Amino acid sequence: MAQKTKQKVQAKRPVAKPEPKEFSIVDLARELNSFNVDNYWDLGRFLVDKVMPTARKQGMFEDQVLKMISSQPGIKFPFSVLKQCQQYYSYYPDVKKRSLPEVFYFDLATKIDESKRRDQYEKMAVDFKWTISDLRKKIHDDDLARRLDERTKYGFDLRERNVWSFDAPDPRFGKVNFKGRLPGQIIANALFYYTKSNDYVVDPFAGSGTLADIVDTVSHFQDRKYKLYDSNPVDERIARNNILLTGIPEQSNAVDYIFLDPPTEFTQKDSSSDFEVSLDAARADFLLKFKGIIRECSRVLKSGGKVSIIIEPAFAGKEFIDFPNEVTHLFREMGFKGIGKVYLLKRSSESALKMAAGIAEVKGIRALTSDCREMLTFQKS
Ligand SMILES: C[S@@+](CC[C@H](N)C(=O)[O-])C[C@H]1O[C@@H](n2cnc3c(N)ncnc32)[C@H](O)[C@@H]1O
Repeated sequence: MAQKTKQKVQAKRPVAKPEPKEFSIVDLARELNSFNVDNYWDLGRFLVDKVMPTARKQGMFEDQVLKMISSQPGIKFPFSVLKQCQQYYSYYPDVKKRSLPEVFYFDLATKIDESKRRDQYEKMAVDFKWTISDLRKKIHDDDLARRLDERTKYGFDLRERNVWSFDAPDPRFGKVNFKGRLPGQIIANALFYYTKSNDYVVDPFAGSGTLADIVDTVSHFQDRKYKLYDSNPVDERIARNNILLTGIPEQSNAVDYIFLDPPTEFTQKDSSSDFEVSLDAARADFLLKFKGIIRECSRVLKSGGKVSIIIEPAFAGKEFIDFPNEVTHLFREMGFKGIGKVYLLKRSSESALKMAAGIAEVKGIRALTSDCREMLTFQKS
């Protein structure tokens, strides 16, 4: 039987590795600038093989380094391009050996996160001899289908970015002819992002009961508990309460989420009146009302509880009051931190009405009017 001869393991002398060159963002930026603007793969290779290991040794995050490089004066590549190149090379270091043209892989690397899906698209593109437009169309269509699917999954028009517009209010939520009714999709998205199972939700300006309709109708929200108030209740689910006189009639530290949709008269003054003269008065009136309301939110919310408010600026000829900014200051003063900002574009039908009415004037000065509300969300610490 052949016997294995024991080999004597020789203690190797440690080979002295050359110390990495001093990490200099300026040098890296200069070197990067020598790349062609469309040489994405080589650029990615340089970032992945040279820049990132050096940066990691210095204890820096990848994005931090890319941001520092892209902010160097004279650099040809913005952060987004560097990021895409890095991703492209990381996913496809072997791109030259693959069967499709390189642009396919660039698109796949920068549009599809999951490697399994990237492989599926690559296979389809090869099998069906797709052009790059075919691939882009397929990715776009699949994305659309996925988002529609999500909407059905949750039972309402889910939004993923922070500019929301809805052509028509969802007819299931709120009462059709109620003045000031909010498209229910706004409240549904707010509940989706800012509440969780079993949360206790309070709406002190309930209006036509839109929030209650959502919780009662959309199964995703059915485990939320709610309480609605309004100074002029329109159905039995809404309790009568004037928030300016009696605050929010809830126990202290008991509420998880408050949705505030105050009436327009709390902020918007009649532009035909002498608005400029009364500008200070309008601001003072606003501060008085909202200080009280926010104090009440702070009292009834649990620690970590959230509050969203629908608010818009008031334009007054030469000047305007930035109510979203004012309200943000008030919340901060009261110890809240801002956790969300959504722009709510007014419906196209509302804007069309305004256009038909012509350019607004205040005391002979052309005046812009607001086409966009904001939904600001704050969290109690
Ligand atoms: C903009 S609407 C709310 C609309 C509601 N989100 C909806 O979708 O139907 C404002 C509501 O605040 C109510 N309101 C006005 N002043 C109030 C006050 N001082 N206290 C409580 N509610 C008040 C109005 O009656 C009105 O229903």
